[in-house]
Amino acid sequence: MFRADTAGGNRIIPLPARRDHPMAAPAPAVGVSDPQPRSEVSMATVSPASSAAQSTLRSPASAASAGTDGAGAFKSALRHLAGGVCVITTGRGDDRTGLTVTSLSSLSAEPPAVMFGLNLASSVFPVLRRHRSFGVNFLSAAQKEIADRFAGRGGAKGPARYVEARWSEGRSGVPLLEGALAALDCELEELIERHSHAIVIGRVREIRLGPNDAALLYWRGDYERLGWMAEEARIALGLRSV
Ligand SMILES: Cc1cc2nc3c(=O)[nH]c(=O)nc-3n(C[C@H](O)[C@H](O)[C@H](O)COP(=O)(O)O)c2cc1C
Repeated sequence: MFRADTAGGNRIIPLPARRDHPMAAPAPAVGVSDPQPRSEVSMATVSPASSAAQSTLRSPASAASAGTDGAGAFKSALRHLAGGVCVITTGRGDDRTGLTVTSLSSLSAEPPAVMFGLNLASSVFPVLRRHRSFGVNFLSAAQKEIADRFAGRGGAKGPARYVEARWSEGRSGVPLLEGALAALDCELEELIERHSHAIVIGRVREIRLGPNDAALLYWRGDYERLGWMAEEARIALGLRSV
């Protein structure tokens, strides 16, 4: 029942039913006020049934390709989903931090609201819960280094992630990135803890529109760019000589 198969050239990897899955979490708790003890989220119990299923999948042939356990196959599939890169900012002064995400999406336009997935183990989580507001900065293709810094590459933490970029304060006081394609100042509306992550819902309180530059994307484990920088477009259209 729980094995890799093929159909029409596609690999099919059935996953265990929810009750058998080692990461199946207790019923969701809703609200900003720490609804579910962290230990319940992070301590997964692997049942004998699911361990057996997992080891069946870790045959040398399948492990050598894309990985056929639930998480491995899931990551292999999700690599193909191209995502716009955003930096989430939160906190103030020395208590400021942030992270790079591709999980941001629009929740609703009326009212304007967004959501993203935040790893509960991230150092950003307690800061966001304390300050209850966050900034969303849509990165341009020229802001790859900022994405790396906010992803923790190079080891920068907290305020050190803000170096070598210009910031101004949004309406709530949250840092917003100068030169971002667009930036949103959001009030934390809800945190829904689920599995290893929280779904963060924010009500947009201020919108800033930046330059029409190329967007920074993340696809198949690497950065890509989409579109032209505004300056390149002006030159191509003959509106500016080189
Ligand atoms: C392109 C890219 C996208 C990411 N998307 C997310 C995301 O949606 N949610 C998340 O929690 N972490 C995401 N991460 C990982 C976080 O950026 C990274 O774990 C975080 O900055 C580490 O934070 P910490 O050192 O404060 O714990 C992403 C990383 C990269 C490079």
